[in-house]
Amino acid sequence: MYDFLNDYNQTVHPNLLKEFVDINNKKLSGYGLDECCDDAINSIKKLLKSPNADIHFMAGGTITNLTTISHILKPYQAVIAAETGHINVHETGAIEATGHKVVTVKTEDGKLTPELIKPVLDYHCDEHMVQPKLVYISNTTELGTLYTKQELKKLYQFCQKHHLYLYLDGARLAMALAAKDNDITFPDLAKYTDAFYIGGTKVGAFAGEALIFNNLSINHDFRFNMKQKGAILAKSWIIAVQFKALMENNLYISLGKHSNDMAEKLKNLFENEGLTFAAKPQSNQLFVNFPNQLAKKIISLYALDNLGQTDPSHICLRFCTSWATQEVEIENFAKQLKALLRK
Ligand SMILES: Cc1ncc(COP(=O)(O)O)c(C=O)c1O
Repeated sequence: MYDFLNDYNQTVHPNLLKEFVDINNKKLSGYGLDECCDDAINSIKKLLKSPNADIHFMAGGTITNLTTISHILKPYQAVIAAETGHINVHETGAIEATGHKVVTVKTEDGKLTPELIKPVLDYHCDEHMVQPKLVYISNTTELGTLYTKQELKKLYQFCQKHHLYLYLDGARLAMALAAKDNDITFPDLAKYTDAFYIGGTKVGAFAGEALIFNNLSINHDFRFNMKQKGAILAKSWIIAVQFKALMENNLYISLGKHSNDMAEKLKNLFENEGLTFAAKPQSNQLFVNFPNQLAKKIISLYALDNLGQTDPSHICLRFCTSWATQEVEIENFAKQLKALLRK
């Protein structure tokens, strides 16, 4: 059975595995304060062209989001997110469990804009309501769509004007930066967000994310909050060495590009068969509308996310490719799909 269920279904890229072997005989002090962490931090700073960035290695996306958001906000403050945003739908109320409301906004394409945020600010007008203070976005979005540089810049400028912080969840940042339609660079992320993270778990790492604070007025005592939330790993270096390898020789972007290229092959296949998409295909996640019977046959053969009916006669299935997806998997799926369509 081939698997397009997610982008973290294989353990670790060989270059990263080699890093584990190389450091295996080293004694390290740990807790994010050793030479391996320093090396990786310096590689990331170079890439961001941001020598003052404050960088922390985290185990996964949810712990990064909840530790960062809970650190930035005061007890009565809230975070604004797209209704489809990961913190709203897939993190078990982790943000709310830290005491902060997630105020959601309906979007067509998973992206937030100043026009969508402004009514939230107008509505939350006094101390009888929570105070929206942080805008959460992800790139790529939960629907696989991308922000352009102009959109990100406009959002950041809007946040600045309204005294909001902008935080970008980069679980799939490699796929965003490697996408054909992308014009955002690493230095742009340092310039146009207050904080963001570079996702590793979905980009060949065994696990791990690199959190970056660009705004150094919001990271005071962050390690205390990290420790209290259980987010400081004694062996942080196991995340750091992977990031060092990911940042070398453009590996990070090339793994994102491979994920996107595999998805594009699937996209062409679906288009040639006359199928439509529930969200614009721009990266490694495709949301495909299948006639009900065909969808049922496909999910009996493949591990896939089933997003339910898009209309009474269509079911939307998510196809997710990864750094490890092989062309032969796409070719075999194409044969299978063609056979099902001709039955
Ligand atoms: C955009 C985004 N943020 C955060 C996460 C959460 O990551 P984890 O499952 O590692 O906590 C995911 C995982 O699917 C994600 O897609």
